[in-house]
Amino acid sequence: MRTLTQIIPSVPTSDGAGVKLRRSLGSQRGFQVDPFLMLDEFYSDDPKDYIAGFPAHPHRGFETVTYMLDGHMRHEDHLGNRGDLSPGDVQWMTAARGIIHSEMPQQSEGRMRGFQLWLNLPSKEKMKPAHYRDIPAQQIPVLQLSSAVSAKVIAGSVRLDGQSVSGPVNAPDAPLTTDPLYLDLKLPAGVALEVPVTRGHNTFLYVYEGEARVGAPHDAQTLPYRAAGVLSDGDSVRVQGGERGAQLLLLAARPLREPVVQYGPFVMNTRQEIEQAVEDYRSGRFAA
Ligand code: FE2
Repeated sequence: MRTLTQIIPSVPTSDGAGVKLRRSLGSQRGFQVDPFLMLDEFYSDDPKDYIAGFPAHPHRGFETVTYMLDGHMRHEDHLGNRGDLSPGDVQWMTAARGIIHSEMPQQSEGRMRGFQLWLNLPSKEKMKPAHYRDIPAQQIPVLQLSSAVSAKVIAGSVRLDGQSVSGPVNAPDAPLTTDPLYLDLKLPAGVALEVPVTRGHNTFLYVYEGEARVGAPHDAQTLPYRAAGVLSDGDSVRVQGGERGAQLLLLAARPLREPVVQYGPFVMNTRQEIEQAVEDYRSGRFAA
């Protein structure tokens, strides 16, 4: 059984043209849960916190995964791709050799809430062509388990209470090298769920409603609201809803064990490759 080895509280920050965020993973320089680089949560009812959006900016060398809970965002890139994200939708963008895109709110009031995860690519895939997919909410399976427990499967496959389900990304017929598992779990107060997670895959949780108890009943630890919890190795993780229940993300993936050199939106293996990315971007050859 996996246990909580480290808690990373989220810290307020801003990105893009001034969007207010809370960053957990990625807020401590040089610390990652290989191959996960960063997790941001955006959550506000005040348009001043999100209206400026994320105007055109580049990415190279990794994947960005946006999961919307509330609000509307439009994505456009230099290749002419365009997609709208509505509540429950996911965009899985493989920036790879390069994408220049914008992510802009399509609302002037109301709630904007969701997550952006950065997932690293292996060295041999960092310069492959960019690719992305918009996944509408209705294509993301939700396992309804007993006692009002639910598990949404965004990526990977999982078996819970005798039911197996695969998400739209990293399905058995189209595996990703990092083999990611991305679950959104809902647990009422006091109800526990044991989730099998492949041994050797690095795993972390992020609580976005309530709080959770993590680990075997006799030595469970509390993972507070809006914190990421890094887990030890093992075959499964047991999570239990706190006094007000819990909603949390569970992320697991095969580690790459490669050097990570990051400069803003570029994540490569060497400094030379970063210099090349900067040079390619400045000269307009970035994503040709
Ligand atoms: Fe972006």
